[in-house]
Amino acid sequence: MANITPIILAAGKGSRMFSNLPKVLHPIGGKPMLGHVIDTARKLNPKNILVVIGHGAKNIEENFESDTSIKWVLQKEQLGTGHAVQQTTEHINDDTIALILYGDVPLISHHTLENLVNAAETDNFALLTAVLDEPSGYGRIVRDQKNQVSKIIEHKDATKDELIINEINTGIMAINGKLLKKWLNQLSNDNAQQEYYLTDIVQMAVADGIKISTIIVDNPLEAMGINDRLQQAKMERFYQKCEANKLLAQGVTIIDPGRVDIRGNVTCGKDVLVDINVIFEGDVVIGDNVKIGANTILKNSKIDSNTNILENCVIDSSDIGENCNIGPFSRIRPETVLKGQNNIGNFVEIKKSTIGTGSKINHLSYVGDTKMGDKGNIGAGVIICNYDGAFKHQTTIGNNVFVGSDTQLIAPVKIDDDITIGAGSTINKDIIKQDNDKEILVLSRSKQKTIKPWKRPKK
Ligand code: UD1
Ligand code: CA
Repeated sequence: MANITPIILAAGKGSRMFSNLPKVLHPIGGKPMLGHVIDTARKLNPKNILVVIGHGAKNIEENFESDTSIKWVLQKEQLGTGHAVQQTTEHINDDTIALILYGDVPLISHHTLENLVNAAETDNFALLTAVLDEPSGYGRIVRDQKNQVSKIIEHKDATKDELIINEINTGIMAINGKLLKKWLNQLSNDNAQQEYYLTDIVQMAVADGIKISTIIVDNPLEAMGINDRLQQAKMERFYQKCEANKLLAQGVTIIDPGRVDIRGNVTCGKDVLVDINVIFEGDVVIGDNVKIGANTILKNSKIDSNTNILENCVIDSSDIGENCNIGPFSRIRPETVLKGQNNIGNFVEIKKSTIGTGSKINHLSYVGDTKMGDKGNIGAGVIICNYDGAFKHQTTIGNNVFVGSDTQLIAPVKIDDDITIGAGSTINKDIIKQDNDKEILVLSRSKQKTIKPWKRPKK
């Protein structure tokens, strides 16, 4: 493939979003629209990606700070799409194929762009069009008797006959660099909107005897721009449907593909089941035979094979081992590692902790900044008091430790292997076994009393 220079137009205001955030930073599938376009453009292996910015320029640039392949081009005043591309001419080589894209047309596919660029390699000028039932507002493709494109007429400049045409200009085009620069020099703003229309280069090409090759996009939604929240919401659903279809095609069971949201990248093993209203965020990697219950949120996490996640769990930036049972209603916070065969039950919160193989935390507990060994049991209502009001402290629990219900472990504290802690204890000293100790019981509890006779108060 020829060397390609993507030029992404993103200087417009996006006033119909009624937002302080620049339009192209609004997300689709959790990623800024402009990010989608940049990522797709990058698949064509360009040396640089040119992005024309104006409104919200600083904010937009900051969002992509780490991406050094982007060349930002400032368009101070927005005088039209032709004017926007004019700003980039010094970066367009004669022998490149300039590929015009839009920051608010986020879901254009790599496949379509490849076809367009291939057409431009032979014909110098390739235009992406769409056939719409309701073409109102768009530039129309005017063709001559031989069905060749003769010009693009903007809606506001069109005659009655031209308004009937339902083949529209998506705006996306691929053009030989040298020719594009020549035509950009000839643009004028003599039209209804007094703008420099990029679309006027079509007539110039025809005058120069260049035949324009057209590709009609398969699914018009792919090439549609977003101007308001309604279009954004429609595009979000289109995106989610495509993402769900990809997983289905790979063999994932999705109970209702209309009720799953993917805001990042999900990789699934074999025989994974996803129940309704599951949200995936960031990078999520799932092993074989994993079940994910309804209303669960998985974010930047790894779930190993044969693990069963029940309903209403939130798992963030954690590593969940094999054969675990989690939930319903478990919250697993960043930097947690479950080594495998763990049972984590309802209303259990775990943060920045490692839980050894086979250990269980079944009910109503908080475990933070803890390293716990294998085959232990944490009873109902246990709290690891990791915070003293100023600092966080570590708790270390050995293997085969039983922590009775309603116990508090006040960190920093260390519990040796095989210790049993009686229910209702407050442990604030390390429990270290002596030479001959095997299993020991530790408890801190006031003695039970009986008071009699006793009369219960009555109203
Ligand atoms: C443009 C096309 C029209 C096409 C439609 C598809 C022209 C003259 N018309 O019309 O044929 O059917 O797109 O959606 O090209 N932009 C800048 N700087 C500017 C002006 C625009 O960066 O000075 C950017 C905007 O941010 C936007 C894009 O270019 O992302 C399109 O601009 P817009 O004004 O919306 O063009 P349309 O009138 O919709
Ligand atoms: Ca538009």
